[in-house]
Amino acid sequence: MAFLSPSLLAADFYNLERQIKVLEENNVKYLHLDVMDGNFVPNISYGAGIIKSLRENTNLVFDVHLMIEKPENYIDDFAKAGADIITIHQEATKHPLRVLQQIKEHGIKAGISLNPGTSLSVLDYLWDELDLILIMTVNPGFGGQSFIPSSIDKIKETRKLINQNKDDILLEIDGGVKTTNLESLLDLGVDIFVSGSDIFNKDLNLMKEKIEYYLERI
Ligand code: DX5
Ligand code: ZN
Repeated sequence: MAFLSPSLLAADFYNLERQIKVLEENNVKYLHLDVMDGNFVPNISYGAGIIKSLRENTNLVFDVHLMIEKPENYIDDFAKAGADIITIHQEATKHPLRVLQQIKEHGIKAGISLNPGTSLSVLDYLWDELDLILIMTVNPGFGGQSFIPSSIDKIKETRKLINQNKDDILLEIDGGVKTTNLESLLDLGVDIFVSGSDIFNKDLNLMKEKIEYYLERI
């Protein structure tokens, strides 16, 4: 069984409360929180303050995706804000292993994310500290982009490596996942599907229909 982790980046921020209720009322368990710093990626999103306010109002599993340079400087803030999982980018720090350890010291799950152009070989010496691997299926920075087709092979390869090295690691994919391509992503061994622009909509009934479509299939 896999999970859907809707990306809040695509939400209507004026109506966050209502939109999050739609997720909760329709059996969504995870919330994907994209933190962007305008440096590691060209875009700026939101930070620990917003996450803390949300934490006080929902029990969804907070799947925090840090697209920030030097994440080591902010792990404590995001852990205190209520993250259940913190995923850093391998490309964003000189010391990925140390940062994963830093995350785990807070008693929460530690994930590593790889950009589309990053080889899986960077995982070689990280296995002991990993709870989750996030394969980017678009270049990070923006919602609403198209799924990069070569990601399919990378996802399959990651699933193989997880099975060989530590089979309780969660495999997550992020970017361009939509109702229109979900079928082609179903048999790859993915545990968590992130989807943003396809799920969030001002039309709450449409949101409900989309969520149902995903949850019936994954
Ligand atoms: C991209 C973010 C994604 C994004 C996904 O940098 O990490 O989580 O919000 O959005 P969609 O589903 O619209 O591609
Ligand atoms: Zn993300």
